[in-house]
Amino acid sequence: MQPAVKVSPAPAPPRSGRHFLQIPGPTNVPDRVLRAMARPTIDHRGPEFAVLATEIFEGLGAVFGTPGPVIVFPSSGTGAWEAAIVNTLRPGDRVLMFETGQFAALWKRLAERLGLVVDYVPGDWRRGADPAVVEARLAEDRAGAIKAVMVVHNETSTGVTCRIPLIRQAIDRARHGALLMVDTISSLASIDYRHAEWGVDVSVGCSQKGLMLPPGLGLNAVSDKALAAARQGGMPRAYWDWEDMLKHNASGYFPYTPATNLLYGLREALAMLREQGLPGVFARHARHAEATRRAVRAWGLEILCAEPAEYSSVLTAVMMPAGHDADVFRAAVLSRFDMSLGIGLGKLVGKIFRIGHLGDLNDLTLVGTLGGVEMGLGIAGVPYRAGGTQAAMSFLSGDSQS
Ligand SMILES: Cc1ncc(COP(=O)(O)O)c(C=O)c1O
Repeated sequence: MQPAVKVSPAPAPPRSGRHFLQIPGPTNVPDRVLRAMARPTIDHRGPEFAVLATEIFEGLGAVFGTPGPVIVFPSSGTGAWEAAIVNTLRPGDRVLMFETGQFAALWKRLAERLGLVVDYVPGDWRRGADPAVVEARLAEDRAGAIKAVMVVHNETSTGVTCRIPLIRQAIDRARHGALLMVDTISSLASIDYRHAEWGVDVSVGCSQKGLMLPPGLGLNAVSDKALAAARQGGMPRAYWDWEDMLKHNASGYFPYTPATNLLYGLREALAMLREQGLPGVFARHARHAEATRRAVRAWGLEILCAEPAEYSSVLTAVMMPAGHDADVFRAAVLSRFDMSLGIGLGKLVGKIFRIGHLGDLNDLTLVGTLGGVEMGLGIAGVPYRAGGTQAAMSFLSGDSQS
């Protein structure tokens, strides 16, 4: 008879299996995309490149929901934020922004560094920009001093999604000519978004979230009105200049060296999104978000987003019970289960953790993620009720009563 093997509950190093990257971006890069990028870099002035770029511009238009141009910068999302501003606004221009969380705060800081005067509507980081406030502020501004309304669609720091169509309607009701600029960095290709239909002038995106790519591409979808503003003014600019880009993009090229291998990956990611169909992609994100919220409630923990109509489909921010540090919990989950969860940012440091459920994941990835959270709560000594993962599984398998 074989001697009984003593099985320890803790895994022995070295680690096996894949790391669980469950932060709200960068997200897991699918094998298909990784393979597509692992190719020799081609001549970015040659004919093969023009075919690649043209295909990408078309695919990006479909993802943003626009027949107009989408500009691709070799940059992070912050670069695309800056490009939106320097092409359309002048130092001293007033803009209306909303304190929805850390990314709204960072975009505001960037705007102020570029010389804009920001009317910053305070918020509690638990809900989105209020359309009624947009309407009231713009209605008061009879002289048209406010040149742009700038909103973060999905606040990655809080798990709150602003309702952009309502903000558009508010601007229209106030009969105000301000540009509408929307940060879609963590919503693009995960949550329904319609640049043209919703009358957005500049949509800012990037590669490392719903597009399932590594970081390194910044995106601007632009309306005719934004292009006209750029032609008439903006700030001194060179690298970020839309006009220069569009001139070269028209024949499939860039004014400087593009991130060629990321573009191979983008072509593959766009093909995957096309195969799945955007409505199916949005529905999958919504379903995983609902399963996650059921888990959180069953654990007896609180969801940071206070407005159910603004729950995010791409991440859920979970509040820690008083006296417990979210970073201690996250460290326990990382060391024990090799899973990264999102940290609390800005004034939420240590107070929340964020579960990313966007990009390339399926039911079992989510169940594994929630299982890791549930085990981690126990290991870190956080008070919780068992059964959250089961609540999510019941929902995902169609078993739950409601
Ligand atoms: C909503 C949002 N806006 C802007 C940014 C900044 O993008 P980046 O870090 O790529 O510069 C992020 C990054 O996570 C984000 O989530």
